[in-house]
Amino acid sequence: MIRTAYLAAEGFEAPLAEELTRRGAAVSAWHGRLALSPDAPVAVAWALDVWTEPREIEAPSVKAAADALRAMQRNWAAYPVDFHRRMALIGDRLPPVKARPLVFPEPAPAGHLGGWTLLAPDQLLASPTKTSPFVNGECRFVEDRSGPPSRAYLKLWEACVRFGAWPAVGEGCLDLGASPGGWTWALARLGAAVTAVDKAPLDPAVAAMPGVTVRQESAFALAPEPADWLFSDVVAYPDRLLALVQRWIEAKVVRRIVCTIKFQGPTDHAAAEAFAAIPGGQVAHLFHNKHELTLWWADPA
Ligand SMILES: C[S@@+](CC[C@H](N)C(=O)[O-])C[C@H]1O[C@@H](n2cnc3c(N)ncnc32)[C@H](O)[C@@H]1O
Repeated sequence: MIRTAYLAAEGFEAPLAEELTRRGAAVSAWHGRLALSPDAPVAVAWALDVWTEPREIEAPSVKAAADALRAMQRNWAAYPVDFHRRMALIGDRLPPVKARPLVFPEPAPAGHLGGWTLLAPDQLLASPTKTSPFVNGECRFVEDRSGPPSRAYLKLWEACVRFGAWPAVGEGCLDLGASPGGWTWALARLGAAVTAVDKAPLDPAVAAMPGVTVRQESAFALAPEPADWLFSDVVAYPDRLLALVQRWIEAKVVRRIVCTIKFQGPTDHAAAEAFAAIPGGQVAHLFHNKHELTLWWADPA
């Protein structure tokens, strides 16, 4: 029996498998990037999407499969691994689901969405509920290909959409490890007052944006100072970043923290768990994250 299915991002099946083992959840098989588990859902960071109520349904025909899905609910997102033609034919019989890219800043879609796939030509796996409001956890945006100096701004946008908040006009933001300036660009575009901190220089066009102040220094030498938001995309060992984050939280000077936890070589799961254990903190592998996790922290007080 399959009780939960966890969808890993492409190339990140291994950290998800390791994390599930650490949480005591078995994996009976993989279907593409979908880890099929006989155990109840557990909280994991390395899944883009979690199917929380999967059902195995015999579907001897295309019509039977589509009817079974429609009988459950309207909106379904397909996760195709095999049997592509048959899945397309089933999909043609379902109401269309608009998966348009978001125009930031706008909230995540609020409509209910289930996930389905074919495990065999006549065997449907369908979950009416899943954790991500996006098709296969893929949070896509209408990109800006000329403004930002790096594509890193997409993971900042995704974090804001995923956790449902972003800086308001005039709010103070510190951006640690800001160079070349993708995150600073995104924050300045929101109308925030951004202090960009990096040992390396910022892209001159971003440095010249209204509301941007540049400080060319080390993020780790910076004493905590009052700000609405602390952002960090610094390349650093997770333990060093954890100490920095804890120092800023203990100083009670910021209301929210968004930072990437980067891994070189094997994934440091113990460090990821230490970040996730911070009261008010959540850790997730976003669609735009590489071998890194995103910490979102909001002051519980
Ligand atoms: C992944 S890049 C940041 C990209 C940036 N968020 C953007 O959107 O363009 C990581 C940055 O961390 C910076 N960095 C590494 N160690 C640092 C330190 N101790 N203090 C400040 N910045 C540091 C590097 O210079 C580099 O620019």
